[in-house]
Amino acid sequence: MADQNKLALDFLETCRVRVDAELDRCIERSAASERLQEAMRYSVLGGGKRIRPALCLAAAKAVGQAGDQGLAPACSVELIHAYSLIHDDLPAMDDDELRRGRPTTHIAFDEATAILAGDALQTLAFGLLANNSEGSAEARLAMIQELARASGSQGMVGGQAIDLESVGKTLSLSQLETMHRHKTGALIEASVRLGALTAPSVSEAALTDLTAYARALGLAFQVQDDLLDIEGDTEVIGKPQGSDAARAKPTYPALLGVAGAREHLAALLSSALESLRAFGPEADPLRAMADYVVARTH
Ligand code: IPE
Ligand code: IPE
Ligand code: MG
Ligand code: MG
Ligand code: MG
Repeated sequence: MADQNKLALDFLETCRVRVDAELDRCIERSAASERLQEAMRYSVLGGGKRIRPALCLAAAKAVGQAGDQGLAPACSVELIHAYSLIHDDLPAMDDDELRRGRPTTHIAFDEATAILAGDALQTLAFGLLANNSEGSAEARLAMIQELARASGSQGMVGGQAIDLESVGKTLSLSQLETMHRHKTGALIEASVRLGALTAPSVSEAALTDLTAYARALGLAFQVQDDLLDIEGDTEVIGKPQGSDAARAKPTYPALLGVAGAREHLAALLSSALESLRAFGPEADPLRAMADYVVARTH
């Protein structure tokens, strides 16, 4: 487990360096307004664990693509993620003032600029995939379709809508799972699938296994996020502890209790790892990332 954690941390750090350089480059050139560009840079480049890009690059590695093939999709998913966080923190949504240990974008700038920065990051993500020089036109199209599905009303945005509609309500376990699968799971699933799609001849069987891994991990990720909202420390998690309870959000611990949520998390981790059984050492970064996601403290 200690070795796994070191592998995950090393892998995350290597990914962070590559991905941050590319994100820096693509935001540098993008905005007509200096203030907008500053807000975009603030939101994307100010920390973040880079779990989604790392999952994308780890999945690319698992299908034999260890070079730069996964870099554009890895960045595209992080751009969507950064936009989703800016909007998630807005007063009309979770109304949070702290993110990644710093003021949220609407506090550091203003609400209108935060909304626009989110909008701009979203289109930048699709532009990055469309202009990607790696891979065929067919592969680029498949990636754009994948990211569109995962980001929109059938994916992350749909999940955010369910989240807001559910405030103060008690959801059933299956309703809660549906919400989490959309708001968080969809982008995590897309991260892994985009990585797999970098291989022109990825088999259906490999794609199915990797998707199953990502679906279990996507859910596990949000269960741990919900647990950290209760048990974490604001200083460590870099966002306000207790935000879910303060806003009566439906969460796994609220429904199952902390111990029940932990049990559920362990079952999801086993299921994620089991989905990788047909893979050899080329999937070790994915295995290490799964352990990291459920054990993370921030
Ligand atoms: C937080 O995601 C938002 C959720 C989807 C629960 P992360 O924990 O990956 O946030 P950063 O990118 O590391 O700040
Ligand atoms: C947010 O879930 C998921 C997205 C941003 C899509 P949360 O609202 O639980 O995320 P945090 O806890 O604010 O990071
Ligand atoms: Mg939220
Ligand atoms: Mg939130
Ligand atoms: Mg949360």
